[in-house]
Amino acid sequence: MNKTRWYKDSVFYQIWPRSFKDGNGDGMGDLYGVYEKLDYIKSLGCDGIWFSPIYPSPGADCGYDISDYMDIAPEFGGMEAFRLVLEGAHQRGMKVLMDLVVNHTSDEHEWFQKSRRRIEPYTDYYIWRPGKPGGKLPNNWDSNFEGKAWTWDEVRGEYYLHLFAVKQPDLNMDNPLVREEVKRIMKFWLDMGVDGFREDVITYISKAEGLPDDHLFPIYKGMPKYNHGPHIHEYLAEFKRDVLDHYDCFTLAEAPLVWPDQALKYIDEENGQIDAMIQFQCQCADCLFTDYIPTKFSLKRMKRAFSNWQYKLRHRAWNMLYLENHDHPRIISRYGSEKFWKESGKTLAASYLFQQGTPFVYQGQEIGMLNWKPESADMYEDVQTCYNYAHSALNKTPQQRLERLWRSSRDSARTPVQWDSSENAGFSTGEPWFYVNQNYREINVAQQEADPDSILNFYRKAIHLRKSLSVVRHGNYRELFRYNSKLYVYAREMKGQKLLVICSFSNRDHILPTPTGFDFSKAQLILNNYSDDELQLNVLKPYECRVYLWT
Ligand code: NOJ
Repeated sequence: MNKTRWYKDSVFYQIWPRSFKDGNGDGMGDLYGVYEKLDYIKSLGCDGIWFSPIYPSPGADCGYDISDYMDIAPEFGGMEAFRLVLEGAHQRGMKVLMDLVVNHTSDEHEWFQKSRRRIEPYTDYYIWRPGKPGGKLPNNWDSNFEGKAWTWDEVRGEYYLHLFAVKQPDLNMDNPLVREEVKRIMKFWLDMGVDGFREDVITYISKAEGLPDDHLFPIYKGMPKYNHGPHIHEYLAEFKRDVLDHYDCFTLAEAPLVWPDQALKYIDEENGQIDAMIQFQCQCADCLFTDYIPTKFSLKRMKRAFSNWQYKLRHRAWNMLYLENHDHPRIISRYGSEKFWKESGKTLAASYLFQQGTPFVYQGQEIGMLNWKPESADMYEDVQTCYNYAHSALNKTPQQRLERLWRSSRDSARTPVQWDSSENAGFSTGEPWFYVNQNYREINVAQQEADPDSILNFYRKAIHLRKSLSVVRHGNYRELFRYNSKLYVYAREMKGQKLLVICSFSNRDHILPTPTGFDFSKAQLILNNYSDDELQLNVLKPYECRVYLWT
Protein backbone atom coordinates (compact mmCIF):
# COMPACT_ATOMS: atom_id res chain seq x y z
CA MET A 1 0.00 0.00 0.00
CA ASN A 2 1.33 3.40 -0.98
CA LYS A 3 1.58 5.55 2.13
CA THR A 4 0.69 9.13 1.23
CA ARG A 5 1.51 10.53 4.68
CA TRP A 6 -1.56 12.72 4.40
CA TYR A 7 -1.30 13.63 8.09
CA LYS A 8 1.57 15.99 7.31
CA ASP A 9 -0.97 18.48 5.98
CA SER A 10 -3.52 17.95 8.73
CA VAL A 11 -4.56 19.72 11.89
CA PHE A 12 -6.36 17.51 14.41
CA TYR A 13 -8.99 18.26 17.00
CA GLN A 14 -9.09 16.04 20.08
CA ILE A 15 -12.46 15.06 21.48
CA TRP A 16 -12.74 13.83 25.03
CA PRO A 17 -16.27 12.55 24.48
CA ARG A 18 -17.88 12.78 27.92
CA SER A 19 -17.42 16.54 28.01
CA PHE A 20 -17.65 17.61 24.40
CA LYS A 21 -21.39 17.95 23.66
CA ASP A 22 -24.44 16.10 24.85
CA GLY A 23 -26.85 15.47 21.99
CA ASN A 24 -29.60 13.52 23.75
CA GLY A 25 -29.99 15.41 27.00
CA ASP A 26 -28.84 12.71 29.40
CA GLY A 27 -25.99 14.83 30.75
CA MET A 28 -23.21 12.83 29.11
CA GLY A 29 -21.37 14.04 26.02
CA ASP A 30 -22.01 11.70 23.09
CA LEU A 31 -21.65 11.11 19.37
CA TYR A 32 -24.94 12.84 18.56
CA GLY A 33 -23.36 15.92 20.05
CA VAL A 34 -20.24 15.39 17.96
CA TYR A 35 -22.37 15.04 14.84
CA GLU A 36 -24.00 18.41 15.58
CA LYS A 37 -20.59 20.02 15.89
CA LEU A 38 -18.77 18.58 12.88
CA ASP A 39 -19.16 21.82 10.96
CA TYR A 40 -17.79 23.74 13.92
CA ILE A 41 -14.68 21.55 14.01
CA LYS A 42 -14.28 21.94 10.28
CA SER A 43 -14.69 25.71 10.63
CA LEU A 44 -11.54 25.81 12.76
CA GLY A 45 -9.60 24.50 9.79
CA CYS A 46 -9.21 21.10 11.43
CA ASP A 47 -9.35 18.15 9.12
CA GLY A 48 -8.99 15.33 11.58
CA ILE A 49 -10.50 14.19 14.85
CA TRP A 50 -8.89 12.05 17.53
CA PHE A 51 -11.46 10.42 19.75
CA SER A 52 -10.41 9.53 23.26
CA PRO A 53 -11.98 6.10 23.94
CA ILE A 54 -15.63 5.65 23.03
CA TYR A 55 -15.82 1.89 23.57
CA PRO A 56 -17.89 0.13 26.24
CA SER A 57 -16.16 0.64 29.58
CA PRO A 58 -17.06 0.66 33.26
CA GLY A 59 -15.42 4.10 33.39
CA ALA A 60 -12.83 3.54 36.11
CA ASP A 61 -10.47 5.70 34.03
CA CYS A 62 -13.04 7.52 31.92
CA GLY A 63 -12.94 5.00 29.08
CA TYR A 64 -9.25 4.07 29.17
CA ASP A 65 -10.45 0.84 30.80
CA ILE A 66 -12.07 -0.95 27.88
CA SER A 67 -14.42 -3.89 28.24
CA ASP A 68 -15.14 -4.42 24.54
CA TYR A 69 -12.79 -3.23 21.79
CA MET A 70 -15.14 -3.85 18.91
CA ASP A 71 -18.16 -1.83 19.89
CA ILE A 72 -19.14 1.72 20.79
CA ALA A 73 -20.51 2.47 24.27
CA PRO A 74 -24.30 2.83 24.37
CA GLU A 75 -24.01 6.07 26.36
CA PHE A 76 -22.16 7.59 23.39
CA GLY A 77 -24.82 6.40 20.94
CA GLY A 78 -23.51 2.95 20.00
CA MET A 79 -22.26 1.82 16.61
CA GLU A 80 -25.07 3.48 14.69
CA ALA A 81 -24.14 6.94 15.93
CA PHE A 82 -20.47 6.23 15.31
CA ARG A 83 -21.07 5.29 11.68
CA LEU A 84 -22.99 8.51 11.25
CA VAL A 85 -20.13 10.54 12.67
CA LEU A 86 -17.51 8.69 10.65
CA GLU A 87 -19.43 9.26 7.45
CA GLY A 88 -20.16 12.88 8.37
CA ALA A 89 -16.49 13.51 9.08
CA HIS A 90 -15.37 11.90 5.84
CA GLN A 91 -17.94 13.85 3.83
CA ARG A 92 -16.37 17.01 5.20
CA GLY A 93 -12.87 15.86 4.35
CA MET A 94 -11.98 15.05 7.95
CA LYS A 95 -10.11 11.95 9.09
CA VAL A 96 -10.91 10.00 12.23
CA LEU A 97 -8.41 8.49 14.69
CA MET A 98 -9.45 6.00 17.34
CA ASP A 99 -7.70 5.56 20.66
CA LEU A 100 -6.08 2.15 20.78
CA VAL A 101 -5.62 1.20 24.42
CA VAL A 102 -3.91 -2.18 24.46
CA ASN A 103 -1.40 -1.98 27.28
CA HIS A 104 -4.30 -2.91 29.54
CA THR A 105 -8.01 -3.70 29.48
CA SER A 106 -10.75 -3.26 32.03
CA ASP A 107 -10.92 -5.99 34.66
CA GLU A 108 -14.50 -6.39 33.43
CA HIS A 109 -13.34 -7.42 29.96
CA GLU A 110 -14.32 -10.99 29.11
CA TRP A 111 -10.64 -11.89 28.60
CA PHE A 112 -9.80 -10.98 32.17
CA GLN A 113 -12.85 -12.72 33.56
CA LYS A 114 -11.78 -15.90 31.76
CA SER A 115 -8.11 -15.47 32.55
CA ARG A 116 -8.69 -15.26 36.29
CA ARG A 117 -10.58 -18.56 36.01
CA ARG A 118 -7.81 -20.09 33.88
CA ILE A 119 -10.17 -20.69 30.97
CA GLU A 120 -8.18 -21.36 27.80
CA PRO A 121 -6.94 -19.71 25.69
CA TYR A 122 -7.09 -16.76 28.09
CA THR A 123 -5.01 -18.12 30.98
CA ASP A 124 -1.90 -16.18 29.94
CA TYR A 125 -3.55 -13.10 28.47
CA TYR A 126 -2.50 -11.08 31.53
CA ILE A 127 0.59 -10.90 33.74
CA TRP A 128 -0.05 -13.16 36.73
CA ARG A 129 2.45 -13.99 39.47
CA PRO A 130 2.20 -15.94 42.70
CA GLY A 131 4.00 -13.42 44.91
CA LYS A 132 7.23 -13.88 46.81
CA PRO A 133 7.75 -15.86 50.00
CA GLY A 134 6.58 -14.09 53.14
CA GLY A 135 3.52 -12.69 51.40
CA LYS A 136 5.60 -10.16 49.43
CA LEU A 137 4.52 -8.67 46.11
CA PRO A 138 6.11 -10.13 42.94
CA ASN A 139 8.27 -7.00 42.56
CA ASN A 140 8.59 -3.43 43.81
CA TRP A 141 6.98 -1.58 40.90
CA ASP A 142 4.53 1.26 41.48
CA SER A 143 1.47 1.78 39.39
CA ASN A 144 1.10 5.13 37.64
CA PHE A 145 -2.21 5.77 39.39
CA GLU A 146 -2.95 3.80 42.55
CA GLY A 147 -0.14 2.63 44.79
CA LYS A 148 1.65 -0.61 44.03
CA ALA A 149 1.39 -2.21 40.59
CA TRP A 150 0.14 -5.57 41.89
CA THR A 151 -3.27 -6.62 43.17
CA TRP A 152 -4.23 -9.99 44.58
CA ASP A 153 -7.04 -11.78 42.80
CA GLU A 154 -9.00 -14.17 45.01
CA VAL A 155 -10.50 -16.05 42.09
CA ARG A 156 -7.18 -16.98 40.51
CA GLY A 157 -5.16 -17.03 43.70
CA GLU A 158 -2.41 -14.89 42.17
CA TYR A 159 -1.37 -11.27 41.78
CA TYR A 160 -1.95 -9.43 38.50
CA LEU A 161 0.08 -6.51 37.21
CA HIS A 162 -1.59 -3.15 36.58
CA LEU A 163 0.58 -0.22 35.63
CA PHE A 164 -2.44 2.07 35.99
CA ALA A 165 -5.58 1.70 38.15
CA VAL A 166 -6.48 -1.50 39.96
CA LYS A 167 -9.28 -1.96 37.44
CA GLN A 168 -6.83 -1.80 34.50
CA PRO A 169 -4.93 -5.13 34.36
CA ASP A 170 -1.97 -5.16 31.95
CA LEU A 171 -2.14 -7.47 28.96
CA ASN A 172 0.67 -9.94 28.42
CA MET A 173 1.93 -8.79 25.03
CA ASP A 174 4.58 -11.52 25.03
CA ASN A 175 1.74 -13.95 24.36
CA PRO A 176 1.33 -14.20 20.55
CA LEU A 177 -2.41 -14.73 21.01
CA VAL A 178 -2.70 -11.30 22.59
CA ARG A 179 -0.84 -9.74 19.68
CA GLU A 180 -3.26 -11.45 17.31
CA GLU A 181 -6.12 -9.86 19.24
CA VAL A 182 -4.51 -6.43 18.84
CA LYS A 183 -4.21 -6.97 15.10
CA ARG A 184 -7.83 -8.07 14.90
CA ILE A 185 -8.92 -4.89 16.66
CA MET A 186 -6.83 -2.72 14.34
CA LYS A 187 -8.23 -4.42 11.25
CA PHE A 188 -11.78 -4.18 12.51
CA TRP A 189 -11.66 -0.39 12.74
CA LEU A 190 -9.52 0.21 9.67
CA ASP A 191 -11.88 -1.92 7.59
CA MET A 192 -14.75 0.15 8.86
CA GLY A 193 -13.00 3.22 7.48
CA VAL A 194 -11.20 4.85 10.39
CA ASP A 195 -7.97 6.52 9.41
CA GLY A 196 -5.59 5.49 12.15
CA PHE A 197 -4.87 5.23 15.83
CA ARG A 198 -3.52 7.15 18.72
CA GLU A 199 -1.82 4.36 20.66
CA ASP A 200 -2.14 4.73 24.42
CA VAL A 201 1.12 4.31 26.45
CA ILE A 202 2.27 1.99 23.71
CA THR A 203 5.90 2.17 24.86
CA TYR A 204 4.86 0.22 27.99
CA ILE A 205 3.68 -2.97 26.29
CA SER A 206 6.91 -5.00 26.55
CA LYS A 207 8.06 -5.62 30.12
CA ALA A 208 11.61 -6.60 31.11
CA GLU A 209 12.18 -10.32 31.24
CA GLY A 210 11.66 -11.73 34.71
CA LEU A 211 9.95 -8.50 35.88
CA PRO A 212 12.95 -7.47 38.02
CA ASP A 213 12.83 -4.96 40.88
CA ASP A 214 13.77 -1.40 40.07
CA HIS A 215 16.17 0.53 42.29
CA LEU A 216 16.67 3.58 40.15
CA PHE A 217 13.69 5.59 39.26
CA PRO A 218 12.55 8.18 41.85
CA ILE A 219 8.86 8.14 40.95
CA TYR A 220 6.71 5.46 39.33
CA LYS A 221 9.25 2.89 40.46
CA GLY A 222 9.68 0.26 37.77
CA MET A 223 9.29 2.55 34.78
CA PRO A 224 12.74 1.78 33.31
CA LYS A 225 11.78 -1.89 33.38
CA TYR A 226 8.67 -1.53 31.26
CA ASN A 227 9.02 1.70 29.25
CA HIS A 228 10.77 0.98 25.90
CA GLY A 229 11.04 -2.66 26.94
CA PRO A 230 13.03 -5.43 25.24
CA HIS A 231 10.54 -6.45 22.51
CA ILE A 232 8.83 -3.14 21.89
CA HIS A 233 10.18 -2.54 18.39
CA GLU A 234 9.61 -6.15 17.40
CA TYR A 235 5.93 -6.04 18.44
CA LEU A 236 5.30 -2.69 16.80
CA ALA A 237 6.98 -3.92 13.62
CA GLU A 238 4.71 -6.95 13.66
CA PHE A 239 1.59 -4.75 13.90
CA LYS A 240 2.92 -2.64 11.06
CA ARG A 241 3.85 -5.54 8.80
CA ASP A 242 0.66 -7.53 9.37
CA VAL A 243 -1.86 -4.70 9.48
CA LEU A 244 -0.85 -1.06 9.27
CA ASP A 245 1.22 -1.37 6.10
CA HIS A 246 -1.92 -2.43 4.27
CA TYR A 247 -3.80 0.80 4.92
CA ASP A 248 -3.01 4.45 4.21
CA CYS A 249 -3.37 5.23 7.89
CA PHE A 250 -1.72 7.38 10.55
CA THR A 251 -0.35 6.02 13.82
CA LEU A 252 0.53 8.18 16.75
CA ALA A 253 2.26 6.69 19.76
CA GLU A 254 1.92 8.06 23.25
CA ALA A 255 5.34 7.85 24.88
CA PRO A 256 5.94 8.96 28.44
CA LEU A 257 9.62 9.71 29.06
CA VAL A 258 11.13 9.71 25.63
CA TRP A 259 13.72 11.97 24.08
CA PRO A 260 14.26 12.62 20.39
CA ASP A 261 17.13 10.20 19.76
CA GLN A 262 15.16 7.40 21.28
CA ALA A 263 11.98 8.47 19.52
CA LEU A 264 13.73 8.09 16.18
CA LYS A 265 13.96 4.35 16.78
CA TYR A 266 10.15 4.36 16.58
CA ILE A 267 9.36 7.07 14.08
CA ASP A 268 12.31 7.35 11.69
CA GLU A 269 10.65 7.57 8.28
CA GLU A 270 13.03 5.02 6.77
CA ASN A 271 12.67 2.23 9.25
CA GLY A 272 10.40 3.24 12.11
CA GLN A 273 7.26 1.37 13.05
CA ILE A 274 4.94 4.30 13.66
CA ASP A 275 4.40 7.75 12.21
CA ALA A 276 4.63 10.21 15.08
CA MET A 277 4.94 10.43 18.80
CA ILE A 278 3.22 12.22 21.67
CA GLN A 279 6.17 13.26 23.79
CA PHE A 280 5.86 14.80 27.25
CA GLN A 281 8.84 17.13 27.32
CA CYS A 282 6.76 20.07 26.10
CA GLN A 283 4.53 19.48 29.16
CA CYS A 284 7.39 19.75 31.65
CA ALA A 285 8.18 23.47 31.60
CA ASP A 286 6.40 23.87 34.94
CA CYS A 287 6.83 20.52 36.62
CA LEU A 288 9.20 17.60 37.13
CA PHE A 289 8.09 14.54 35.13
CA THR A 290 4.47 14.92 36.22
CA ASP A 291 1.97 17.70 36.88
CA TYR A 292 1.89 16.52 40.49
CA ILE A 293 5.40 17.87 41.10
CA PRO A 294 4.87 21.49 40.05
CA THR A 295 7.72 23.97 39.62
CA LYS A 296 7.77 27.58 38.48
CA PHE A 297 7.10 27.95 34.74
CA SER A 298 10.33 28.28 32.79
CA LEU A 299 10.03 29.55 29.25
CA LYS A 300 13.57 28.35 28.60
CA ARG A 301 12.51 24.79 29.38
CA MET A 302 9.54 25.08 27.06
CA LYS A 303 11.73 26.46 24.28
CA ARG A 304 14.36 23.79 24.79
CA ALA A 305 11.75 21.07 24.46
CA PHE A 306 10.19 22.55 21.32
CA SER A 307 13.48 23.29 19.61
CA ASN A 308 15.13 20.03 20.50
CA TRP A 309 12.37 18.05 18.79
CA GLN A 310 12.28 20.39 15.81
CA TYR A 311 16.04 20.14 15.21
CA LYS A 312 16.47 16.44 15.89
CA LEU A 313 13.57 15.18 13.80
CA ARG A 314 14.30 17.40 10.81
CA HIS A 315 14.50 15.37 7.56
CA ARG A 316 14.19 12.14 9.53
CA ALA A 317 10.82 12.02 11.22
CA TRP A 318 7.63 13.96 11.78
CA ASN A 319 6.58 15.89 14.89
CA MET A 320 3.25 15.83 16.63
CA LEU A 321 2.57 19.27 18.13
CA TYR A 322 0.35 19.95 21.11
CA LEU A 323 -0.09 22.11 24.18
CA GLU A 324 -3.15 20.51 25.76
CA ASN A 325 -4.90 17.21 26.08
CA HIS A 326 -7.15 15.42 28.57
CA ASP A 327 -4.19 14.48 30.80
CA HIS A 328 -2.97 17.95 31.71
CA PRO A 329 -4.45 21.14 33.18
CA ARG A 330 -5.25 24.01 30.82
CA ILE A 331 -2.27 25.69 29.19
CA ILE A 332 -3.19 29.36 29.76
CA SER A 333 -3.44 28.61 33.49
CA ARG A 334 0.00 27.00 33.32
CA TYR A 335 2.28 28.60 30.73
CA GLY A 336 0.26 31.74 30.06
CA SER A 337 -1.56 34.18 32.33
CA GLU A 338 -5.17 34.18 33.46
CA LYS A 339 -4.84 37.95 33.88
CA PHE A 340 -3.69 38.39 30.28
CA TRP A 341 -6.09 35.65 29.25
CA LYS A 342 -6.77 36.68 25.68
CA GLU A 343 -3.26 37.85 24.87
CA SER A 344 -1.53 34.81 26.32
CA GLY A 345 -4.07 32.42 24.79
CA LYS A 346 -3.17 33.75 21.37
CA THR A 347 0.55 33.81 22.02
CA LEU A 348 0.46 30.19 23.10
CA ALA A 349 -1.38 29.31 19.90
CA ALA A 350 1.25 31.06 17.79
CA SER A 351 4.06 29.46 19.77
CA TYR A 352 3.25 25.99 18.44
CA LEU A 353 1.01 26.29 15.37
CA PHE A 354 3.83 27.42 13.07
CA GLN A 355 6.29 24.69 13.95
CA GLN A 356 6.90 21.72 11.69
CA GLY A 357 4.61 18.80 12.45
CA THR A 358 0.96 17.91 12.83
CA PRO A 359 -0.78 20.12 15.41
CA PHE A 360 -3.53 18.91 17.73
CA VAL A 361 -6.04 21.22 19.41
CA TYR A 362 -7.81 19.88 22.49
CA GLN A 363 -11.51 20.68 22.93
CA GLY A 364 -11.95 24.07 24.60
CA GLN A 365 -8.32 25.10 24.01
CA GLU A 366 -9.48 27.11 20.99
CA ILE A 367 -11.62 29.37 23.21
CA GLY A 368 -8.99 29.63 25.94
CA MET A 369 -10.75 27.55 28.58
CA LEU A 370 -9.06 27.82 31.97
CA ASN A 371 -8.46 25.43 34.84
CA TRP A 372 -11.48 24.38 36.81
CA LYS A 373 -11.07 25.37 40.47
CA PRO A 374 -13.67 23.65 42.63
CA GLU A 375 -14.17 24.67 46.24
CA SER A 376 -13.85 21.17 47.60
CA ALA A 377 -11.59 18.18 46.95
CA ASP A 378 -14.46 15.72 46.94
CA MET A 379 -15.76 17.24 43.72
CA TYR A 380 -12.94 15.51 41.79
CA GLU A 381 -13.69 12.38 39.74
CA ASP A 382 -10.41 11.33 38.20
CA VAL A 383 -8.87 8.18 39.67
CA GLN A 384 -5.32 9.56 39.57
CA THR A 385 -6.34 12.81 41.25
CA CYS A 386 -8.28 11.09 44.01
CA TYR A 387 -5.40 8.74 44.84
CA ASN A 388 -2.93 11.56 44.81
CA TYR A 389 -5.06 13.72 47.05
CA ALA A 390 -5.48 10.97 49.60
CA HIS A 391 -1.76 10.14 49.72
CA SER A 392 0.34 13.22 49.17
CA ALA A 393 1.07 16.62 50.69
CA LEU A 394 -0.61 15.48 53.89
CA ASN A 395 1.41 18.04 55.87
CA LYS A 396 -0.12 20.98 53.99
CA THR A 397 -3.29 22.87 54.91
CA PRO A 398 -6.58 21.77 53.27
CA GLN A 399 -6.60 24.92 51.15
CA GLN A 400 -3.02 24.36 49.98
CA ARG A 401 -3.84 20.76 49.10
CA LEU A 402 -6.88 21.86 47.15
CA GLU A 403 -4.91 24.47 45.24
CA ARG A 404 -2.35 21.82 44.31
CA LEU A 405 -5.16 19.92 42.65
CA TRP A 406 -6.27 22.96 40.67
CA ARG A 407 -2.75 23.08 39.25
CA SER A 408 -2.18 19.35 38.79
CA SER A 409 -5.41 17.49 38.25
CA ARG A 410 -6.52 16.16 34.90
CA ASP A 411 -10.05 17.18 35.89
CA SER A 412 -8.92 20.82 35.56
CA ALA A 413 -9.27 20.30 31.80
CA ARG A 414 -12.14 17.83 31.72
CA THR A 415 -15.11 20.07 32.45
CA PRO A 416 -17.75 20.37 29.71
CA VAL A 417 -16.99 22.52 26.69
CA GLN A 418 -18.49 25.97 27.13
CA TRP A 419 -20.69 26.47 24.09
CA ASP A 420 -22.73 29.49 25.18
CA SER A 421 -23.92 31.43 28.21
CA SER A 422 -27.15 29.48 28.72
CA GLU A 423 -27.63 27.00 31.53
CA ASN A 424 -24.90 24.31 31.72
CA ALA A 425 -22.91 26.36 29.21
CA GLY A 426 -25.05 24.91 26.43
CA PHE A 427 -23.35 21.55 26.93
CA SER A 428 -26.48 19.65 27.93
CA THR A 429 -30.17 20.19 28.50
CA GLY A 430 -29.98 17.59 31.27
CA GLU A 431 -27.92 17.44 34.44
CA PRO A 432 -24.26 17.37 33.27
CA TRP A 433 -22.25 14.34 34.39
CA PHE A 434 -19.57 16.71 35.69
CA TYR A 435 -19.26 20.29 36.90
CA VAL A 436 -19.29 23.17 34.46
CA ASN A 437 -16.57 25.78 34.98
CA GLN A 438 -18.30 28.81 36.48
CA ASN A 439 -16.57 31.21 34.10
CA TYR A 440 -18.71 29.97 31.17
CA ARG A 441 -20.64 33.24 30.90
CA GLU A 442 -17.40 35.05 30.01
CA ILE A 443 -15.65 32.26 28.12
CA ASN A 444 -17.79 30.44 25.56
CA VAL A 445 -17.94 29.63 21.86
CA ALA A 446 -21.02 31.73 21.00
CA GLN A 447 -19.51 34.87 22.43
CA GLN A 448 -16.23 34.29 20.61
CA GLU A 449 -17.92 33.48 17.30
CA ALA A 450 -19.36 36.99 17.41
CA ASP A 451 -16.04 38.67 18.21
CA PRO A 452 -13.56 38.96 15.35
CA ASP A 453 -10.81 39.55 17.90
CA SER A 454 -11.49 36.39 19.95
CA ILE A 455 -9.07 33.59 20.74
CA LEU A 456 -11.31 31.32 18.67
CA ASN A 457 -10.94 33.48 15.58
CA PHE A 458 -7.22 33.76 16.19
CA TYR A 459 -6.97 29.95 16.06
CA ARG A 460 -8.92 29.98 12.81
CA LYS A 461 -6.61 32.55 11.26
CA ALA A 462 -3.46 30.83 12.47
CA ILE A 463 -4.58 27.42 11.20
CA HIS A 464 -5.63 28.91 7.89
CA LEU A 465 -2.24 30.59 7.52
CA ARG A 466 -0.33 27.47 8.43
CA LYS A 467 -2.21 25.58 5.75
CA SER A 468 -1.68 28.17 3.08
CA LEU A 469 2.08 28.65 3.60
CA SER A 470 4.32 25.90 2.34
CA VAL A 471 7.17 27.18 4.50
CA VAL A 472 5.31 25.86 7.54
CA ARG A 473 5.30 22.36 6.14
CA HIS A 474 8.71 22.35 4.44
CA GLY A 475 10.83 25.13 5.88
CA ASN A 476 13.80 24.87 8.18
CA TYR A 477 13.25 25.72 11.83
CA ARG A 478 15.62 28.05 13.63
CA GLU A 479 15.32 29.43 17.13
CA LEU A 480 16.53 32.97 17.88
CA PHE A 481 17.44 34.56 21.22
CA ARG A 482 17.69 31.16 22.84
CA TYR A 483 18.87 32.53 26.20
CA ASN A 484 16.11 35.11 26.52
CA SER A 485 13.83 34.00 29.35
CA LYS A 486 10.81 36.06 28.23
CA LEU A 487 10.75 35.70 24.46
CA TYR A 488 10.24 32.72 22.22
CA VAL A 489 11.24 33.61 18.68
CA TYR A 490 11.59 31.17 15.82
CA ALA A 491 12.04 31.38 12.10
CA ARG A 492 10.89 29.03 9.37
CA GLU A 493 12.82 29.36 6.15
CA MET A 494 12.86 27.92 2.67
CA LYS A 495 13.72 29.22 -0.76
CA GLY A 496 11.48 32.18 -1.49
CA GLN A 497 9.57 32.20 1.81
CA LYS A 498 10.53 33.16 5.32
CA LEU A 499 8.44 33.35 8.47
CA LEU A 500 9.30 34.85 11.84
CA VAL A 501 7.18 34.06 14.90
CA ILE A 502 7.70 36.31 17.90
CA CYS A 503 6.02 35.49 21.21
CA SER A 504 6.42 37.40 24.43
CA PHE A 505 5.79 35.57 27.69
CA SER A 506 6.31 38.68 29.79
CA ASN A 507 3.49 40.35 31.72
CA ARG A 508 4.95 43.78 31.03
CA ASP A 509 6.42 45.60 28.04
CA HIS A 510 9.55 43.90 26.78
CA ILE A 511 12.29 45.01 24.40
CA LEU A 512 12.47 43.05 21.17
CA PRO A 513 16.14 42.77 20.18
CA THR A 514 16.72 43.24 16.46
CA PRO A 515 17.06 39.87 14.78
CA THR A 516 19.85 39.93 12.21
CA GLY A 517 18.94 39.02 8.67
CA PHE A 518 15.30 40.08 8.95
CA ASP A 519 14.46 43.35 7.26
CA PHE A 520 11.12 44.40 8.71
CA SER A 521 10.61 47.10 6.11
CA LYS A 522 10.14 44.31 3.56
CA ALA A 523 8.00 42.08 5.75
CA GLN A 524 4.30 41.56 5.90
CA LEU A 525 2.76 41.27 9.38
CA ILE A 526 0.31 38.44 8.81
CA LEU A 527 -0.88 37.73 12.35
CA ASN A 528 -0.72 39.49 15.72
CA ASN A 529 -2.70 40.02 18.90
CA TYR A 530 -2.69 43.79 19.51
CA SER A 531 -4.27 46.50 17.40
CA ASP A 532 -2.08 48.04 14.72
CA ASP A 533 -2.00 51.49 16.33
CA GLU A 534 -0.45 49.92 19.45
CA LEU A 535 2.35 48.39 17.46
CA GLN A 536 5.92 49.46 18.26
CA LEU A 537 8.60 47.66 16.31
CA ASN A 538 11.10 47.23 19.14
CA VAL A 539 8.77 46.89 22.10
CA LEU A 540 6.44 44.01 22.78
CA LYS A 541 3.35 44.51 24.91
CA PRO A 542 2.49 41.86 27.56
CA TYR A 543 2.13 38.48 25.86
CA GLU A 544 2.28 40.10 22.45
CA CYS A 545 2.82 37.86 19.46
CA ARG A 546 3.55 38.65 15.84
CA VAL A 547 4.04 36.55 12.77
CA TYR A 548 5.94 38.16 9.89
CA LEU A 549 6.24 36.84 6.36
CA TRP A 550 8.82 37.53 3.65
CA THR A 551 8.13 36.32 0.14
C1 NOJ B 1 -2.73 7.67 28.89
C2 NOJ B 1 -4.07 8.31 28.68
O1 NOJ B 1 -3.94 9.48 27.94
C3 NOJ B 1 -4.64 8.53 30.05
O2 NOJ B 1 -5.79 9.33 30.03
C4 NOJ B 1 -4.92 7.19 30.67
O3 NOJ B 1 -5.39 7.37 31.98
C5 NOJ B 1 -3.65 6.34 30.71
N1 NOJ B 1 -2.91 6.39 29.49
C6 NOJ B 1 -4.00 4.91 30.97
O4 NOJ B 1 -4.68 4.38 29.88
